Order: sequence, then C-alpha cells, then structure tokens
Amino acid sequence: MKFFVDTADVAAIRELNDLGMVDGVTTNPSLILKAGRDITEVTREICEMVDGPVSAEVVAEKADDMIREGKTLAKIADNIAVKVPLTWDGLKACRALSDDGHMVNVTLCFSPAQAILAAKAGATFISPFIGRLDDIHLDGVELIADIREIYDNYGYETQILAASIRSVNHIIEVGKIGTDVITAPPAVIKSMANHVLTDKGLAQFNADWEKTGQKIG
Ligand code: E4P
Repeated sequence: MKFFVDTADVAAIRELNDLGMVDGVTTNPSLILKAGRDITEVTREICEMVDGPVSAEVVAEKADDMIREGKTLAKIADNIAVKVPLTWDGLKACRALSDDGHMVNVTLCFSPAQAILAAKAGATFISPFIGRLDDIHLDGVELIADIREIYDNYGYETQILAASIRSVNHIIEVGKIGTDVITAPPAVIKSMANHVLTDKGLAQFNADWEKTGQKIG
C-alpha cells in the first residue's frame, strides 16, 4: 500500500518522510489555505523533499482554463500530478494533460460510474472520497471495493487513491480491498502506531523496571 500524505504542512510531511513513510503528497485549495503559504512556493518545497507524486489542484471550471492552470502547475517540478475535479470539463482536461505526458489525479469522485470515466480519460489516479460519503451516511469503503472490482475486470491501469480518510479503520478496510494508494492527514497516519494494550504493557514494564533498581548504560 502506497502512503500519500494529505497536507501542505511541510514540517508534518518532513517528519514522516524522514521515516521513509511518504510515497507521495496530495494537496487541495483548502489545504493550501490551511498552510497559509503561496501555492507555487510550498508545492515546490514539497516536490523537492518528496520522492513521489505531489498532487496540486487546478481551480478553473472550464476545460481550457484547467489545462492552462495544469500546465502552469506541472512546471513547478517533474513529480507534479495535476489534480482536476470529476466534472465533464475535468475529464476533458484529464485527457489533454495525460496525452501531454502529465500525471493526472482526478479528484472529488463519489461513484463507480465517475471512476470508470476517469480511467477512460487516462487518469493516473482516481481519488474516491470515503469520509465525505460516510458523512452523508453512505458507505465510502464500499465505493473503493466497487471501483477495485471494476478496474480489475477490465485491467484499467488508473491507480485507486483512497482519499478523505478520517480513521485508522478506513486505512485497514481499504487495504483489505486492495486500494493502490491511501492519502491521509499526518495525524491519522501517526495514530496507526497507537494501541491501548501497547500503552498498558509499557506502563507495566516501566513499573517493574523501576522496582529492579537497575539502569541500562
Ligand atoms: C484528497 O486528495 C483530498 O485532499 C482529501 O483527502 C479530502 O479530505 P477531506 O474530506 O477530509 O477534506
């Protein structure tokens, strides 16, 4: 399972990247706002740090404008994946940018039908949003299963990038299904290390160690 980090927070990416846990990064306009940085500057810094695709999102609504913005973003670095929304215009932009040799991440996917179109349009990645489906009481994990089955039936090479991940459970469930990539906030990735029995066991070991009166080193 490839791990992308869903943030434009350079320090948070660096901490995980230094551990070899980062296979790529995803950003979006909301994450750029949260970082409070210039999009070109922060994206360049991330691209230089990370050895893998870094998604940067267009904001235009018309295909021609998306293509223009996508080409501008792609000039930032060779590892940019241009992120376009799953609209009809976004699919046109996906086809043009993909034919032009750019990696394309088609985002805001909420149905298997949308995911089929993205694959047909030459997307490198499809980003189904799990958490936002769960938010409206639909099953986000089931969407990943449906897309996996359809893509495998036809040998589509578009990688499934499970997005809008809110919990460790999401990561495990989509991992069992065989998602190609997950993208999650740094805090969710770090919380994968937590277990109540680890904490309990450690407390017991520390208490017993105190009683030995010994020191190591
Ligand atoms: C994916 O590329 C998106 O940036 C992200 O996963 C959206 O997550 P959210 O629904 O928690 O905002």
